[in-house]
Amino acid sequence: MRTYLVTGGAGFIGSNYIHYMLRKYGDAIRIINVDALTYAGNLENLKDIENLPNYTFVRANICDKEAISRIFAENDIDRVVHFAAESHVDRSIKNPEVFVQTNVLGTAVMLNCARAAWEREDGTYPEGKKFLHVSTDEVYGSLPDDENAFFYETTPYDPHSPYSASKASSDMLVKAYMDTYHFPANITNCSNNYGPYQFPEKLIPLIINNALQGKKLPVYGDGKNVRDWLFVEDHAKAIDMVQEQGKLFETYNIGGHNEKQNIEIIHIILETLQEMLPEGDPRKAYINEDLITYVEDRKGHDRRYAIAPDKIKADIGWYPETMFKDGIKKTIAWFFEHEEWMKNVTSGDYQKYYDDMYGDK
Ligand code: NAD
Ligand code: DAU
Repeated sequence: MRTYLVTGGAGFIGSNYIHYMLRKYGDAIRIINVDALTYAGNLENLKDIENLPNYTFVRANICDKEAISRIFAENDIDRVVHFAAESHVDRSIKNPEVFVQTNVLGTAVMLNCARAAWEREDGTYPEGKKFLHVSTDEVYGSLPDDENAFFYETTPYDPHSPYSASKASSDMLVKAYMDTYHFPANITNCSNNYGPYQFPEKLIPLIINNALQGKKLPVYGDGKNVRDWLFVEDHAKAIDMVQEQGKLFETYNIGGHNEKQNIEIIHIILETLQEMLPEGDPRKAYINEDLITYVEDRKGHDRRYAIAPDKIKADIGWYPETMFKDGIKKTIAWFFEHEEWMKNVTSGDYQKYYDDMYGDK
């Protein structure tokens, strides 16, 4: 049975990935989820699978060398999928240090521990040991407002925010391990994800949640910054395909071919909410454009991101399957069905879940 060590599996993309993998492979795989449960880690995301015999949760910080090397010593890990990170740009502008700590030093610890566990005396690695570093398109910087300009795997790194600088540094460390130790890894650089379980500090869940409550919808700057949105399940599938079919040591860009200005996204959400709420729902009366409020721009705000996912399509056959109009409906439907989840997250109650569930374990 193949064993996966997933870091950051209690976060947004990590929990979607764990669900995807257990749906796809069932009990043919074992997953160990290592997560520190920061404000972004939520074990409620994994409630439905927490008792499966082939799933284990370990609360640990990826910067904690002893804890991470113990996990490698006690388990024969075949695959590492490394999601754990501080992920929010606005938080990185306010408090950059924790981004360097987790994203750079934490990645160094993960690489060191995996190498120590896997490398043979002659510098080779057993077949099938693979480390996948989950990264972002933000490392490439910002594109001009030109619909023919894209990020490619060969685009030079040019990060602007403390978040993207920390992710760029972590990518460089992985590249250094591959070059220096022939360490068996891949890097994936993905565009903006949206979907179930996303923390409502990010644009799409924040707008859905605020609109449903009749709160203002804050738009940074002129609202014309462009992001390339990808449904999170498509990302989970791409990660699995890269580990199974990709060439080791390669970088793959993953993107939605779905570039939209932030203001367009907000209009689509407002229209879709109107369409999906049942007749007579009182919220229909206040969900409209009057909620939109232009606010001060983000410092160093990147103008446009757009990925050309040509290499991953050509080498592996992956492409973004979910059209935005369908993905956003699925996302909104999920939020309708999980009002309790949103309440717990916004009130902070979700952080009590660990204590209730695991006590002092
Ligand atoms: P998230 O913030 O929702 O989740 C991060 C998870 O990591 C949380 O569960 C948190 O508790 C955990 N974590 C944080 N610090 C930790 C530490 N020191 N030790 C152990 N666990 C820790 O993030 P996300 O949006 O799911 O992003 C996951 C990864 O994907 C990140 O590496 C991010 O850079 C990358 N990424 C995200 C997007 C996106 O649109 N969200 C796009 C491309 C790449
Ligand atoms: O591109 C991939 C990246 O996408 C990931 O690496 C990051 O982890 C992830 O957080 C995301 O970064 P962004 O900064 O692009 O996402 P965010 O949802 O914070 O913002 C999307 C756009 O919306 C951005 O141009 C800023 C704008 N925005 C955001 C918020 C939260 C607003 O206008 N208003 C808001 O309230």
